[in-house]
Amino acid sequence: MFWNFRRIRKCQCVQLVMTCFVLSVLMVCWEQLDHHVVSHMKSYSYRYLVNSYDFINKSFGISQREAKSQSNFPYLINHHDKCDSNEVLLLLFVKSSPENLERRQAIRATWGNESYTQRELGATVRVVFALGVHPNPQQRGRVQRGLLGEDQVYGDLVQQDFVDTFHNLTIKLLLQFRWSHNYCSQARFLMSADDDIFVHMPNLVHYLQGLIRQGARDLWVGHVHRGAPPNRRKDSKYHVPYEMYQWPSYPDYTAGAGYVVSGDVASKIYQATLSLNASLYIDDVFMGICANAMGVSPQEHVYFSGEGKAPYHPCIYDKMITSHGHVADVRYLWKAATDPQIHDISSGLLGKMYCTAVKVMLLCKPYYLNTYPCKAAFS
Ligand SMILES: *[C@@H]1O[C@H](CO)[C@@H](O)[C@H](O)[C@H]1NC(C)=O
Ligand SMILES: *[C@@H]1O[C@H](CO)[C@@H](O)[C@H](O)[C@H]1NC(C)=O
Ligand SMILES: *[C@@H]1O[C@H](CO)[C@@H](O)[C@H](O)[C@H]1NC(C)=O
Ligand SMILES: *[C@@H]1O[C@H](CO)[C@@H](O)[C@H](O)[C@H]1NC(C)=O
Repeated sequence: MFWNFRRIRKCQCVQLVMTCFVLSVLMVCWEQLDHHVVSHMKSYSYRYLVNSYDFINKSFGISQREAKSQSNFPYLINHHDKCDSNEVLLLLFVKSSPENLERRQAIRATWGNESYTQRELGATVRVVFALGVHPNPQQRGRVQRGLLGEDQVYGDLVQQDFVDTFHNLTIKLLLQFRWSHNYCSQARFLMSADDDIFVHMPNLVHYLQGLIRQGARDLWVGHVHRGAPPNRRKDSKYHVPYEMYQWPSYPDYTAGAGYVVSGDVASKIYQATLSLNASLYIDDVFMGICANAMGVSPQEHVYFSGEGKAPYHPCIYDKMITSHGHVADVRYLWKAATDPQIHDISSGLLGKMYCTAVKVMLLCKPYYLNTYPCKAAFS
C-alpha cells in the first residue's frame, strides 16, 4: 500500500513537471507559432473561404488632392523622350538605389542592353532605372554628382526628390506608373524589376510577342502570392501594424522582384493610385490593392521566380524568365543562359525527356525552394 502511494505521487510529479515544461515551451514559441502557422491558417481561410476585399475602396479611398500630394515629388533627373518610338514592346523599370552603380552597369551590359534586344531579337525595349535620393544627407551631394555624370553617359535614370529607402518603395511604385502614363503610354507591356534579379530577355521577348498575338489585354503576370498574411512581427522588415492593415490576408499580388502588366492594366493601376492611400509601404502588396480595386487579378507564370535563385542548368535557361538574387554573377549567367545552343539541349524527344528528368531533380525537392515550382518541370 505504502509503496503504491509513493508511485502515484511520483507519477503525478512527473506529469506536473511535463505539463509545466510543455506550457512554457508553448509560451516561448507562441510568437513563432503565431507567425508561421496561425497567421497563415487565418489568412488562407480568409482568402479561400471568404475572398472578399470590398473593404479596399472604403478603407483606402482618399480624395484626388490627397492622392496627388503623395506622389508629387519633383523630378531631379528625367527623360521625356526616352520612349519616343511608336512601337515599344516593353517599358522596363528597374528599381535601383543611388549607390548601386555596379548593379546598373551589369544590367546595362546584359539583360538591360536595349541595342542587343533591338538587334538580336528585333524588339524595342526601353530600360529605365527608378531612383530617389541617397538617404544619408552627408553623402547625398557626392552621390548625386555621380548620378548626374552617369546619366550624361547613359541617359536612362529617372529620379524623383524623395528619400530612397525600403519604406519608400511604394513612392517608387507611384513614380513608375505615373511616368509610364505620362511618357510611355503606348508601350504594350510594363515591367517592374529589382536591380538584383536576372531577366532572360530573349525568353521574355518571345513570351510577350506570343501574348500580343493573343490580344495581350488584362494581363498581370509573375510569381503570385495568394492569401499572404500581414507580417505582425515588430522586428521584421515587412512588419505592418494593425492600424495600417487590419485584415488577416492581403489581396493576391505578384512578388515585387519582377512582374509584367499589359498596357491597359498599367493605365488602370495608374488610375487606382489617383484615389487610394499609398501609406502601405510594401510596394508589391500595394500594387495588389490597386489591382483589386480595379478588378484585375494576377496570373501565375511558373518561370517567374519569387525570392529564390534559379538552379544553374541549361535545361533551366531554356525556359527561365526571371530569377532573384543575382549580383556578382549577372554577366556570367547572361553569357551562359543566352548561348544560342541552349535550345539544342531540349530539342527532340530525347532532349525533352532528359530536360524533364533534370528539372524534376532540380525543382521537385521536398523542402521549400521558392524559385520555380515542381510543376515547372513539366511545362
Ligand atoms: C549591348 O549590345 C550591343 C550589341 O549586341 C553591343 O555592341 C554593346 O557592346 C552592348 N553594350 C554593353 C554596355 O555591353
Ligand atoms: C520617404 O520620403 C520622404 C520624402 O523625401 C521622406 O520625408 C520620408 O522620411 C521618407 N520615408 C522613409 C521611411 O524613409
Ligand atoms: C492613410 O493611411 C494612414 C494609416 O495607414 C493614415 O495615418 C493616413 O491619415 C491616411 N491618409 C489619408 C490622406 O487619409
Ligand atoms: C472601387 O473604386 C473604383 C474607382 O473608384 C471602381 O472602379 C471600382 O469598381 C470599385 N470597386 C469596388 C469593388 O467597389
